[in-house]
Amino acid sequence: MSQQKKLYIKTYGCQMNVYDSERMAETLAGQGYVQTAQPDDADMILLNTCHIREKAAEKVYSELGRLKPLKHAKPDLKIGVAGCVAQAEGKEIIARQPIVDLVVGPQSYHRLAAMEAAVAAGEKSLDTDFPEEDKFDRLGKRPAANRGPTAFLTVQEGCDKFCAFCVVPYTRGAEVSRPASQIVQEAKELVDRGVREITLLGQNVNAYHGQGPEGSVWSLARLIWELDAIEGLARIRYTTSHPNDMTDDLIDAHGACEKLMPYLHLPVQSGSDKVLKAMNRKHSAEAYIRLIERIRAARPDLLLSGDFIVGFPGESDADFQATLDLVEEVGFGQAYSFKYSERPGTPAAERVQVDEAEKTERLQRLQALLSSQQRAAQEAMVGQSVSVLFEKPGRLADQMVGKSEFLHAVHVKAPSIQKGDIRSVRIVESAPNSLAGELVG
Ligand code: 5AD
Ligand code: SF4
Repeated sequence: MSQQKKLYIKTYGCQMNVYDSERMAETLAGQGYVQTAQPDDADMILLNTCHIREKAAEKVYSELGRLKPLKHAKPDLKIGVAGCVAQAEGKEIIARQPIVDLVVGPQSYHRLAAMEAAVAAGEKSLDTDFPEEDKFDRLGKRPAANRGPTAFLTVQEGCDKFCAFCVVPYTRGAEVSRPASQIVQEAKELVDRGVREITLLGQNVNAYHGQGPEGSVWSLARLIWELDAIEGLARIRYTTSHPNDMTDDLIDAHGACEKLMPYLHLPVQSGSDKVLKAMNRKHSAEAYIRLIERIRAARPDLLLSGDFIVGFPGESDADFQATLDLVEEVGFGQAYSFKYSERPGTPAAERVQVDEAEKTERLQRLQALLSSQQRAAQEAMVGQSVSVLFEKPGRLADQMVGKSEFLHAVHVKAPSIQKGDIRSVRIVESAPNSLAGELVG
């Protein structure tokens, strides 16, 4: 009875892709696939790709090139490309790399079972439509997998903002929010399976405006309050957001909703109004600073995270200095920073580019500042008590690792701790990427 086929999924990019990979694995489980961590073992290899980084498509083609010998040794092996590169490249992928059997865009994952059947029959299968039907509805209920205490839950996809550097509005399409009842149902199913922390996902998650009961439209804050009422769910997070969608009810929730964790990823990208305008961000540096003040007034201990781009076309020394000034003024607990790089098809790709050496130098300076702020934020935790949701064993004996409410990784040596426990922990030491603590009491 060895009908079981093995599936290897390699996931690139954002948490949205992590969620999508899980849902694809669940769909393919219905086609007889179990997941393997070994590509050499697999009957199907699926690359769930990301288009946000530089030369994303080229990197996928090189990865496919590396899979060629495996496919030749094992002609029955099926190879699929999913995610944003699949969406952007479409049938070009099969034209350039004929070892690929299946190309599926992020809006078509609910059609994966039918696509797999076609592929199993020896056909090539391609779907990069933006279909009318509700993908999530078709994906159906989440199966009873044995899972950890944290989960992602996609509530919104796509983006209408069209920042001049970004491919998301092209690869993920226009903003679509899932109906609230569907999300609440999925959250309850996750909690029934032992999940204690849910991170709501969306490319522009705080723009969420899903259908509520009786023709109402729910905001993200309204949805968070509904999830707050689920017994057994202890923590709620959401990512990633646009400053212009930080509505009053969401800011209030940061102050009033105990399950909403004091961590916020709110990208600003630049501290120069000239650059923000050229990026089509539709807010000023001052507006961002005032907004953070308001959120901190609601939740003073909030740990703020952000994204920055240096060397955007037209960025002068003075503009870059304005970014450093904003970072100094606001203070970030952690952040991601990137050199601008062109994405074909986006407006900024057509503009005069900043010199590469200049970009490198600016990135180093910004990262030095951001790391010093991150270190200071971590060191300030030493001596304090935090609440930790434990997720898995650590590297040492009797050690468990989890996350604080501020999303710091915290490890503790205590044999009594179980996966899924939430315990009060006193921080005793700060290491570069984690904190060490001991149980309180
Ligand atoms: N170049 C550099 N960074 C980019 N990002 C998005 N597009 C680009 C690009 N073309 C960064 C932004 C965004 C994060 C997810 O990736 O900072 O917030
Ligand atoms: Fe891209 Fe975010 Fe801007 Fe949307 S808001 S275009 S996802 S950077």
